[in-house]
Amino acid sequence: MIIIKNQTQIEGIRQSSKLAAVTLKYLSRFVKPGISTEKLNELGHKFIIDHDAIPAPLNYSGFPKSICTSINNVVCHGIPSPNEILKEGDIINLDVTTILNGYYGDVSASFPVGKITKKAQDLIETTKYALNQSIKCLKPGKLLNNCVGKVIEPIANKKGYSIVRELGGHGVGLSFHEDPFIFHFDTNQEKVILKEGMIFTIEPMINASTNYRVTLDRHDGWTIRTLDGSLSAQFEHTVLITKTGYEILTI
Ligand code: MF3
Ligand code: CO
Ligand code: CO
Repeated sequence: MIIIKNQTQIEGIRQSSKLAAVTLKYLSRFVKPGISTEKLNELGHKFIIDHDAIPAPLNYSGFPKSICTSINNVVCHGIPSPNEILKEGDIINLDVTTILNGYYGDVSASFPVGKITKKAQDLIETTKYALNQSIKCLKPGKLLNNCVGKVIEPIANKKGYSIVRELGGHGVGLSFHEDPFIFHFDTNQEKVILKEGMIFTIEPMINASTNYRVTLDRHDGWTIRTLDGSLSAQFEHTVLITKTGYEILTI
């Protein structure tokens, strides 16, 4: 069931989303060769707590840390670790989800670590562009898939990239993951029509190869990697459907 949010809820989710965005921006300044993902986690945790909020990932279905840090071929849900040190040429996605006054905001972005290859830069830019093109399309009355899967997949395919299929966006706000599940590839089975008051994430994960397949780390139960070892990038925003279009809440 897709929840249509009322004005009170929208304002609460707006505040939480803003904090998530500010946290991500704060963390991005520390993305440099030599820092550990554990340190990024500590900085993010403290920033969120200092703003009277809770990092949603911590203890979520047993997730052990406060943010997700996903490097290079890690698609998502990377677990921060003191043994994982950023090095020049890496790309890293930081995913921040906050709970403020009970409301959730969810945002992520991929960043270069120092100087990166042209190919890695293009992957990052293409993924960000695909998310933004998708968002621009949003409007009440339209089919969700017409703005998400149908917009994002061709942008990736044209470059020889592929869309991760096992993971998707989601309704968000009163809890971490609400209906609907949002596919970033074109699916014709999906019939969700956009309505004013819907709040959800769009968060395409794009692999720098034609192979969209991923694997789950059997040891930690969380880390998702590309099957063929290719790079993967991701950008995520929490968006509200308004009377005339959309509002990006995580900026
Ligand atoms: N923030 C992720 C998302 O965009 C979910 C992370 S779940 C966690 O949906 F447990 F790994 F934190
Ligand atoms: Co999300
Ligand atoms: Co997220």
